[in-house]
Amino acid sequence: MDLAGVGVQSLLSFTLIFTICLSFSNADTVIDTSLSADLTLRRSDQPFYVNSSIIVPPGITLTVEPGVTVTFDPGVTLSVRGRLVARGQSGQRIRFTAADTPNIPAHRDSTPIWFDGVRLAGDFTSSHVGRLELLFGGSYGTVCQDGWPWYWYRSYYNTRVAARMLGYKTCTRVNNRGGGTGNILLNNVRCNGHEDSLWDCRHDGVRVHNCLHSQDVWLQCSGYTGYRGNPNETAKYWSGIELVTNTSVPGVSDLQYVDIEFAGLPNIGTHSNDAAAISVTGIPPVLDNLNITNVIGNGVLLRDIAGHAIINNSYFDSLSNGVSFRSFGGDLAMNNVQISNVNKAGVYYNRTLPLPSYKMCLTPETTVPDGEPLIVSFDSTDLHLGLQTSCSQ
Ligand SMILES: *[C@@H]1O[C@H](CO)[C@@H](O)[C@H](O)[C@H]1NC(C)=O
Ligand SMILES: *[C@@H]1O[C@H](CO)[C@@H](O)[C@H](O)[C@H]1NC(C)=O
Ligand SMILES: *[C@@H]1O[C@H](CO)[C@@H](O)[C@H](O)[C@H]1NC(C)=O
Ligand SMILES: *[C@@H]1O[C@H](CO)[C@@H](O)[C@H](O)[C@H]1NC(C)=O
Ligand SMILES: *[C@@H]1O[C@H](CO)[C@@H](O)[C@H](O)[C@H]1NC(C)=O
Ligand SMILES: *[C@@H]1O[C@H](CO)[C@@H](O)[C@H](O)[C@H]1NC(C)=O
Repeated sequence: MDLAGVGVQSLLSFTLIFTICLSFSNADTVIDTSLSADLTLRRSDQPFYVNSSIIVPPGITLTVEPGVTVTFDPGVTLSVRGRLVARGQSGQRIRFTAADTPNIPAHRDSTPIWFDGVRLAGDFTSSHVGRLELLFGGSYGTVCQDGWPWYWYRSYYNTRVAARMLGYKTCTRVNNRGGGTGNILLNNVRCNGHEDSLWDCRHDGVRVHNCLHSQDVWLQCSGYTGYRGNPNETAKYWSGIELVTNTSVPGVSDLQYVDIEFAGLPNIGTHSNDAAAISVTGIPPVLDNLNITNVIGNGVLLRDIAGHAIINNSYFDSLSNGVSFRSFGGDLAMNNVQISNVNKAGVYYNRTLPLPSYKMCLTPETTVPDGEPLIVSFDSTDLHLGLQTSCSQ
């Protein structure tokens, strides 16, 4: 089964029987299906290559031996609902990195390399087929296939621009499967292939059409890179490790002496703010001696946690926030953590419910007034968090 680019919501709805498939090619051990039993990635079998998003389901443990390297294809997510045990050692760190080094540097001066506002609405989880939808005036609408015929050169140019917007290498038009609602936004789209977006192509005018939703453009796309810009460049970032657990799942995940590189590519259809090298929902994992570098999303995203999150002895260098705390509950303490080179906040804090006054472990220690988000060091590129031992409550 091909789970490449699966989004969080889609993963949650998976009810398939999981199978394991390890095959060997070019000395890499390939992992491309979700786990159905405990698995240990042994040093003797490395390097490991994950070319499709995989799930570690509840009750299953994925163990990574010290000294192991795991590489990931673009957009691929390691989604853990059970347990991830990646305990490296100081001389034998564990490394999670991109299969191919990105040719887009994480720290360039330009604006982010993806944008929301375009999507394939449909079953892109397994087939990358969907109805082309654009965001206009706060809601998504469709594009009419008039002027976008199968056979014409223009179809090729239109489709190329759409692929570029969506972050795929190529797309082709496929049979319309209907289902569109909302506005029909564009009709008679006539691109020359060099436009950044379909909005820049010639068309009849926004919402000027004589179409029905039965004429919506549907596309099948391949080669998700997440890079939505110059078609000659591919991002090659992988998505990251997603840890989703609650008290019914025994044991916490444990990441120590772990390097994570070139992660943070948003999954198709999800919001860019949600991309992180490590994102946590539920019970916080052990996070110690992490080195998270060249990440284009957040370093660690605490999305909605229960309990005390602790990050110790770690280094973060990421394009978005170093650590993003967006949780209704729980708290965060960091000891001996350095966050550098971030484009947004070193630590971004936004509590979404008015709870009693809240303490954030920073140097100097800061008390966040009730109901206000604290955005630490938003303009600063270099935030050092010092040793603090008593700030986990
Ligand atoms: C992953 O790689 C293996 C071995 O090269 C290949 O058989 C498999 O089809 C690939 N899976 C995906 C989803 O690309
Ligand atoms: C992409 O690569 C082709 C072939 O090398 C080149 O002709 C074209 O100018 C490049 N486009 C951009 C936008 O760099
Ligand atoms: C806890 O996690 C398990 C496994 O993912 C899930 O089936 C269950 O619904 C979750 N319970 C709650 C209360 O979220
Ligand atoms: C973290 O990883 C980067 C990139 O591999 C490396 O340059 C740096 O020295 C590492 N830092 C620490 C503290 O290990
Ligand atoms: C805080 O989070 C809320 C809800 O997600 C959002 O509407 C608001 O814009 C955020 N505040 C800041 C300052 O980012
Ligand atoms: C993190 O560091 C603090 C201070 O050194 C220490 O008290 C705590 O036990 C550590 N926690 C973990 C989970 O390593």
